[in-house]
Amino acid sequence: MSFKHLREDFPTLCGDNPPAYLDNACVTLKPKQVINSISDYYGKYPGCGGRSVHKYGTKVSKLVQESRNAISKFINSNSPNEVVFTGNATSSLNQIAKGLNWNEGDIILTGDREHNSNLVPWLQLQEEQGVELRVVRSNPDNTFSMENFEKACSEAGDKLKLVSMSHVGNLDGVAIPIKEIAKVTHDFDALVSVDGAQSTPHMKVDVQDLDIDFLSFSLHKMCGPSGMGGLWSRYELLENMRTIRAGGQTVVTSTYDSMEWAKPPSKFEGGLGNFSGMIASGAAINYLSRLDMDAIHEHEVKLNRIMTNGIKHLDNIEIIGPENPELRGGICSILMNDLPSHDIAILLDEAANVMIRSGQHCVHSWFNERGHPNGSLRASAYLYNTEDDAKLFADTFCEAVEAFS
Ligand SMILES: Cc1ncc(COP(=O)(O)O)c(C=O)c1O
Repeated sequence: MSFKHLREDFPTLCGDNPPAYLDNACVTLKPKQVINSISDYYGKYPGCGGRSVHKYGTKVSKLVQESRNAISKFINSNSPNEVVFTGNATSSLNQIAKGLNWNEGDIILTGDREHNSNLVPWLQLQEEQGVELRVVRSNPDNTFSMENFEKACSEAGDKLKLVSMSHVGNLDGVAIPIKEIAKVTHDFDALVSVDGAQSTPHMKVDVQDLDIDFLSFSLHKMCGPSGMGGLWSRYELLENMRTIRAGGQTVVTSTYDSMEWAKPPSKFEGGLGNFSGMIASGAAINYLSRLDMDAIHEHEVKLNRIMTNGIKHLDNIEIIGPENPELRGGICSILMNDLPSHDIAILLDEAANVMIRSGQHCVHSWFNERGHPNGSLRASAYLYNTEDDAKLFADTFCEAVEAFS
């Protein structure tokens, strides 16, 4: 299936010399439907939702609710009240880390290819609250090791409190078997937090089918506006979780010495919200909802195959993760050994209008352990990328590597 016809929805892809934008694992481009909804908010009804009862306020409340409904349906949540708007996936993960109650000695398990946003909040808990973070090692090709995971759960025993893993790694695009992980975790009476920043934009994510407890996601990686993310959890967990944004909107009432908490999701959305962001997130989700998520995944794998086949003969680089692009979704991440990754990224941008990411992609732990200060170059595809984009990347990357070798 081709998504080429959708390119005209993306202003930055129209006109002369559009870029081969392959930095989608960081942030995606925005379709005009999303841009228009941002400008409609500011130009037509720039009011405060959830509080003011005048025409602007009422309109914003209605649109924010519609947006929440759309997200709820997209991830198959039981109720829109289980969907909390946050600033990004990082805020969602911090809400979980700082909102749950911890006892000294509680054990948290995470993976060994995690973004800092799904590592640092747990390290902080370890530092400040005496919980223990344990890292489950992947197989040598970065695929998930169920054997290591089950062993880690058994070793943690009844101290196991939470398993928090990224569904798809931003380092390498490798997906892990969340449903099986959730089953094992629940057998230990622990909770499952899924960092869905790299899965929700690219594949069908059904929170009920996966049987998880928390999902954190980034709307800005799903054609939505910057500074918008989401947190989903089961309602009873949200009801019992402490908010880290106490203030206006989070209580039903207060006196000088007490308050009555509002119900979720309000309890977690203190302060005047990013209303244009919330509404435009709904526009982004509506945009993706019209498309077939399986087809998006297939399309990305097809482009990744072109990128992988075009560069794998080079002998001074290594693709991170399994050789087979089908196991890496739309991400082709290349270990640069002693080649200067930032310089090559700048060259590709300036000479060929190919935009990719260079560095350690906030997965410092993985690179530090292996001694790769130069990090990797990461090309990541999305629905609007074409085979020409993938070929251009592969060709110009090979030329650049030759020039720097
Ligand atoms: C796997 C993963 N987790 C978490 C994050 C953080 O997302 P955000 O920037 O929305 O906080 C990212 C961002 O790249 C990511 O790729």
